[in-house]
Amino acid sequence: MKNYRIAVLKGDGIGPEIVGEAIKVLDLTAEKCGFTVEYDEALLGGCAIDATGVPLPDETVAKCKAADSTLLGAVGGPKWDTLPGHLRPEKGLLGIRAALGLFANLRPARIFEPLRDASPLRADIIGGSLDIMVVRELTGGIYFGERGRLEENGVKAAYDTEKYSVPEIDRIARIAFDLAMKRGKKVCSVDKANVLESSRLWRETVTEIAKDYPEVELSYMYVDNCAMQLVRNPSQFDVVLTSNIFGDILSDEASMISGSIGMLASASLGATGSGLYEPIHGSAPDIAGQNIANPLATILSVAMMLKYSLGQPQASDMIEKAVAGVLTEVRTPDIYVEGFRKVSCTEMGDAVCDKIRAM
Ligand code: IPM
Ligand code: MG
Repeated sequence: MKNYRIAVLKGDGIGPEIVGEAIKVLDLTAEKCGFTVEYDEALLGGCAIDATGVPLPDETVAKCKAADSTLLGAVGGPKWDTLPGHLRPEKGLLGIRAALGLFANLRPARIFEPLRDASPLRADIIGGSLDIMVVRELTGGIYFGERGRLEENGVKAAYDTEKYSVPEIDRIARIAFDLAMKRGKKVCSVDKANVLESSRLWRETVTEIAKDYPEVELSYMYVDNCAMQLVRNPSQFDVVLTSNIFGDILSDEASMISGSIGMLASASLGATGSGLYEPIHGSAPDIAGQNIANPLATILSVAMMLKYSLGQPQASDMIEKAVAGVLTEVRTPDIYVEGFRKVSCTEMGDAVCDKIRAM
């Protein structure tokens, strides 16, 4: 029987609760589909700072490298907000992405039919269907560029640098085009080429790569316009290809179209088959420990892991169908509307399991 080793980084805030539910669902799916999963827990973020003094201990990197894939909850919280930049939980997240070479971040934003009413956009704006894949570069650009503080004529200043090389743009662009070939065959490359030199190189490089994908329709958009188009006419997008910072911002915006950021999963991939899977949302310290968080984004992250890293597309489908199924019956508070049964985080996990059991 095939066995997979999964590194588990529960993280902070609601992280442990939502990861618990995702593991419950993965174990059941494995049993159903005839494979086994072993878990290796490690520390990342605030919990790692408390236990070891640093947000990303070496042991965590080693465990993730040894695993077939990594499942992450969320990191951060007010307790660690006043620490210096290099010791913040977020630094641990950026660090693990870099250490594992995870340069491609896939963030699907789509409407789950039963949640259509939860979208803040009018039905006529959403249109028939909505399925956007934001492909965000994850280990370059301004989040990793040179930064510092200085003093100019007695005035305090600080700077961060946006820099991209051709190979960095090349590899992320190919991920976007490859994905587009399996979807709607459209790539919209988002930049700020009217101002930034790094964006001009980005655009030139993407234009070159596009020649290898004659079937894919390539368009370009400035990031400010894209932010507007996402709420004006979101269904025009298929794959959105963009830099680290623009992807960070646009993926939050795109996710909200779906009704709740509590629904959306993400995959971070590198050159090897292994990857890191996590919900798009944060650690929600305000509701941590209350068993009311929505575990579906983490459960859907497991579905992405099964598809993109573990080669178990059938198991992945099972989870996606189960999630779509439960949404017609039960809701966690973030997506609750009258007429449904309001459930806790663990009850939501149980409901997904019940659906899978019945398959
Ligand atoms: C995300 C988060 C992180 C990022 C933060 C916590 C560093 O916002 O995954 O989108 O900017 O990448
Ligand atoms: Mg973000």
